[in-house]
Amino acid sequence: MSEHLSQSEMDYPFKLLEYLNGFRVSKVIFSACELGVFDLLATSPCALSAQQVAQALRASVDGTERLLDALVGIEILHVETQPQDGTALYRNTEVASVYLAKGGAKSLHDLAIYQSQTTYPLWNNLADVVRDGRNQNQKTFGIPPEEVFQAIYRTEEKMLKFMGLMNSFWVLDGHDVVTAFNLAGFQNVVDLGGCTGALAREMVKAYPSSSVTVFDMPAVVEMAAKHFLQENNTLKFQSGSQSLFFRSSTKYAATYSFKHYQSVS
Ligand SMILES: C[S@@+](CC[C@H](N)C(=O)[O-])C[C@H]1O[C@@H](n2cnc3c(N)ncnc32)[C@H](O)[C@@H]1O
Repeated sequence: MSEHLSQSEMDYPFKLLEYLNGFRVSKVIFSACELGVFDLLATSPCALSAQQVAQALRASVDGTERLLDALVGIEILHVETQPQDGTALYRNTEVASVYLAKGGAKSLHDLAIYQSQTTYPLWNNLADVVRDGRNQNQKTFGIPPEEVFQAIYRTEEKMLKFMGLMNSFWVLDGHDVVTAFNLAGFQNVVDLGGCTGALAREMVKAYPSSSVTVFDMPAVVEMAAKHFLQENNTLKFQSGSQSLFFRSSTKYAATYSFKHYQSVS
């Protein structure tokens, strides 16, 4: 460790302590997202006390106050003290309103929820993943390890959450990814496993003369149409199974995108 971390780490292991405690920071943010703290503060016309937040979220005052203070400590919330009676009043920072409250164009709320409810329990079994050399869907969720997408899409709600997660990635990085190389020469583009169409939409924006198609499973395409449709008529969706796709349509496009496809297989 001393070879990689600086010498000052030997005097006091700041970085190591940060690594050891990092999960607490994540959990504080995840819990606030799950409870709706950022949504409440984003829509409130004024800063709120812990008691007001607790009442609105039907949570304990003590627990709420501790959570709000932790969020202040990591600079996700602002706090100010009322001069009359010393009551602490909390409000969102701009980062919390833009990225952690639900529904905004740049919201990462779905990402936080997915990490909290699916990724975090899976990572809790990381030692078993290393020991067994396979994913821990069975142990974590009671789902056969080979059925990755059956596990991810086990209910409509879970499917929607996963799709929200995938969508969140492109909020930040989509434009940079599709413009990292000049793809203007490709007239027909297929995003295989394109999910909500978030990356494909960035393709359409960056290369308006290209024809862009999202290919995914029928249930995913249906859900994308229901929940992620935008006023972008030029983006096409095609549903089917990827194995059939490769057998029947390999000459359809000039380029294929596989973003994130490996990460779950
Ligand atoms: C990890 S996600 C990546 C989504 C998207 N490419 C992105 O980066 O946001 C993998 C995608 O592949 C799709 N997929 C997995 N197996 C498939 C199959 N057999 N046929 C069609 N699509 C499939 C899933 O529905 C999902 O949308």
